[in-house]
Amino acid sequence: MCGIIAYTGSKPASPILIEGLKVLEYRGYDSAGLYVPGAGVHKAVGPVQALADAIPGLLPGTAGMGHTRWATHGNPSLENAHPHTDQNGTIFLVHNGIIENYMELREKLVEQGHTFTSETDTEVLAHLIGVEYEATHDMPASVVAALQSVRGTYGLAVMAEDTPDTIVAVRLGSPIAIGVKEQEFFVASDAAPMLRHTNSIIYLEDGEYAVVTPQGYTVYSFSHRQQEREPEIVDMQVEDADKNGHPHYMLKEILEVPSVLENGTRGRILMKEGNAKLGGLVDREDVLRDVERLIIVGCGSAYYAGMVGKLLVEDIVGIPAHVELASEFRHRSMLADENTAVLAISQSGETADTLAAIREAKRRGLTTVGIVNVVGSSIARETDVGIYNHAGPEMSVASTKGFLSQLELLVLFALYMGRMRSLTQAQGAELAMELLRLPEKVRMILSERHKLKLLAEEYLGYDDFLFIGRAYNLPTAFEGALKLKEVSYVHAEGYGAGEMKHGPIAMIDDIFPTVGIMPLDSTYSKMRSSIEEIRARDGKVIIVTTDGNTGVERLADDVVYIPETKECLTPILANVPLQLFAYYMGVLRGVNVDRPRNLAKSVTVE
Ligand code: M6R
Repeated sequence: MCGIIAYTGSKPASPILIEGLKVLEYRGYDSAGLYVPGAGVHKAVGPVQALADAIPGLLPGTAGMGHTRWATHGNPSLENAHPHTDQNGTIFLVHNGIIENYMELREKLVEQGHTFTSETDTEVLAHLIGVEYEATHDMPASVVAALQSVRGTYGLAVMAEDTPDTIVAVRLGSPIAIGVKEQEFFVASDAAPMLRHTNSIIYLEDGEYAVVTPQGYTVYSFSHRQQEREPEIVDMQVEDADKNGHPHYMLKEILEVPSVLENGTRGRILMKEGNAKLGGLVDREDVLRDVERLIIVGCGSAYYAGMVGKLLVEDIVGIPAHVELASEFRHRSMLADENTAVLAISQSGETADTLAAIREAKRRGLTTVGIVNVVGSSIARETDVGIYNHAGPEMSVASTKGFLSQLELLVLFALYMGRMRSLTQAQGAELAMELLRLPEKVRMILSERHKLKLLAEEYLGYDDFLFIGRAYNLPTAFEGALKLKEVSYVHAEGYGAGEMKHGPIAMIDDIFPTVGIMPLDSTYSKMRSSIEEIRARDGKVIIVTTDGNTGVERLADDVVYIPETKECLTPILANVPLQLFAYYMGVLRGVNVDRPRNLAKSVTVE
């Protein structure tokens, strides 16, 4: 959470910083600020545009840094907005992460006569660095020395007033990347805000810092040992991070799903062998062959993808699989032996809880596998092996294409693992063939998206929704409810249809609609019974079912059809109309669906 961008070069810095901050808004949008040596600190509460409006024209200065905040300590206010400065007003910094012992550090500094202007944890860092800098006038040494007393996580960019074109960037637990261009250098939380300028990116490792000037960059360990680090070319286009004429990233990203699914399988299907070719897993092929149990971890939508993954692995691979909220994984006894592998699912690759779960799994000697979208992200780098989604940047806070791509990759993973065991060539080929048909089937759903808009208009006045499903579409019910909640602020709950009579049916009346996800599959007749029970209590019902199943119209107020597919692939199709429904509900209710309140895209705090 929180986005950082810094620049040093020959061009005016402020437009570069503002433009970069706009790209980074998906990391937080409670307040924004920037520092340009010679032009001072400028801050505004709210989105980056408020900051742009608050700046009096083009600021002089060819270096500087900016920050967009997702509030952790202290509410969104001008005082709490970054950059923060030290006691003497000579050190300026922007921070992403959490300083756990900031209270005790702050109390000590107050005893020494320091005064603080914000409620943030970050401000102590500026003061601590300022103390060191006053004594040594050596920026990198001061930063590292100050951080010795700090407990927590940080991605930092630090500047001193008297070395105006030097940026010290530091990483421990929160990502920091450096963009390299001829005599122009960038520091940012991720590659996206730098893409307009360069694709040449270096990712700092934990415990490293970099000194960046217009003449170049040098990376060091915290023990000041120089590290050899060449930039990697990030295969991402600027347009990937643009809206391309769509009103919102969320809609653009839903419309990209067919091509995302195509990218996910490109070069990865061995039809003759009925297998998947997953280059990212070959390093541990022997170990994966012997895996007897899989634990899948993730948060939010990635966790729901993991729920589908569990079913896929048990059905296709034939080994037990468990799915865990990454945030719970470390807080219980883990019964795992050397034949257990841990699979982490994360779009951003930076989710702190998922990263912590992976680190815990590695500490216990378990093999770790990642399904990650953002290339070079922490989870991608720290898992032993992995598969990239190649879904392109997902800018909207709500995961749409990223989630559906995770489902697709889980199918490929299950296919690959299954073929190492008892899945036959014919079974594998049949699954792969149907997987390849999905992009076209999603296109068919998208071509009828106006119907979802009409549905949203019809249900706009309802404040509570229940989403129910079973088996492969129980996670769809959870995900459908999550999507509606986060982008429209409408209360929604996901529930197992079979659980209705154990409590939730008590809520049903004519103003509490139910969305039943019930393609024609092995649980269809059970779903029908649950829907009958809801109808008997005057509940309004929207049913998502398979094309041609018109008989169901008798049971529903509204029906949404999806093309037929294999049962294990139905979540990939059934989620698409639910994403569109949530999108239109959010837009019609006046929510900024790309930036819902209180949320951030990349959740880098535990
Ligand atoms: O980047 P990740 O996939 O690790 O993110 C996990 C969750 O934070 C994410 O899925 C979140 O729940 C989204 N807002 C859902 O739309």
